[in-house]
Amino acid sequence: MNVIEVRGLRKVYKDKVAVNGISFDVAEGEIFGFLGPNGAGKSTSINMLAIILPPTGGDATVNGFSIIRDRDSVRKSIGLVFQDPSLDDRLTASENLRFHAKLYGVSKDLFVGRMREVLDLVDLWDRKDDLVRTFSGGMRRRLEIARGLLHYPRILFLDEPTIGLDPQTRAHLWEYVLRLKREKKMTIFMTTHYMDEAESCDRIAIIDHGDIVSLDTPEALKKGVGGDIVTLRSERSSDLKIELERRYGLKVDDSDGSLRIEVENGETFLPKLFAELEIKITSVELHKPTLDDVFLSITGRNIRAETASEKDRAQEHMRRRGHH
Ligand SMILES: Nc1ncnc2c1ncn2[C@@H]1O[C@H](COP(=O)(O)OP(=O)(O)OP(=O)(O)O)[C@@H](O)[C@H]1O
Ligand SMILES: [Mg+2]
Repeated sequence: MNVIEVRGLRKVYKDKVAVNGISFDVAEGEIFGFLGPNGAGKSTSINMLAIILPPTGGDATVNGFSIIRDRDSVRKSIGLVFQDPSLDDRLTASENLRFHAKLYGVSKDLFVGRMREVLDLVDLWDRKDDLVRTFSGGMRRRLEIARGLLHYPRILFLDEPTIGLDPQTRAHLWEYVLRLKREKKMTIFMTTHYMDEAESCDRIAIIDHGDIVSLDTPEALKKGVGGDIVTLRSERSSDLKIELERRYGLKVDDSDGSLRIEVENGETFLPKLFAELEIKITSVELHKPTLDDVFLSITGRNIRAETASEKDRAQEHMRRRGHH
């Protein structure tokens, strides 16, 4: 069953096309990722699906409700964690949650039990009476996720949930996300520009300049780029080249002094090659396709080069959070 269906969704700001008529479906219980460089249109897309921004064109259904005609029903059925921090840091954790509960019509009777449940999930129950001002970046992010879950949404939208966090906190947050999928059967729609994060999604849409340029499982996307690249060096390079071509029927690229071949599975090919070959090999390198390669092969550009450095982004993020 699809819990999100998007058809020709489009957003134009003045004369800037931010999202260029995208269409895709998300199945129930999926972790679906939007991967793309800065300015690709990720936040704009998520904000349209989460009723923060009205689309310029197209439509989508979320939990069966149209984002154009049933805005209130969509809003009540989803949880949202924004890219930019949105907690009130002059209030305590529980006060922030209480405010959200009022907004979403969670009754007083239900509130305390739910608060315990969502704060336990992100390990913040014992900090519930502390001011958010005293929380670290990772703790704030966890509290934002807890808040997004308070009204029991069927879908959780996370816009760059781990931006600006250290690797350990990022890994920790991922545990929570995977737990939500496993224990609550929740559908998770997230945006990211981290390749390793995208790897953990069930499916990924690669978005570039407002268009979805590819959509599949991480494995299928990587397979689409080609096989594993094996780079070999030998003192008898030309003999080796002939052998690889004749015996193994491989196409050999010897343009930079080493021999590069593409094989389906490097881990099994290499031991077999070493066992059979009579030519001595002096060095070997195995490169398996990554999502970087996928982005590069589709767009001709490197996602990293276009994305501000981690340090700049983290600093910008902390500035916006009000740290100096
Ligand atoms: N309020 C706005 N007014 C005008 N242009 C905007 C506005 N918000 C976004 N844009 C533009 O729309 C495009 C898509 O922006 P969006 O924020 O959706 O990108 P993103 O993929 O989320 O990027 P990032 O990785 O930096 O968060 C960008 O070119 C951006 O400059
Ligand atoms: Mg964004």
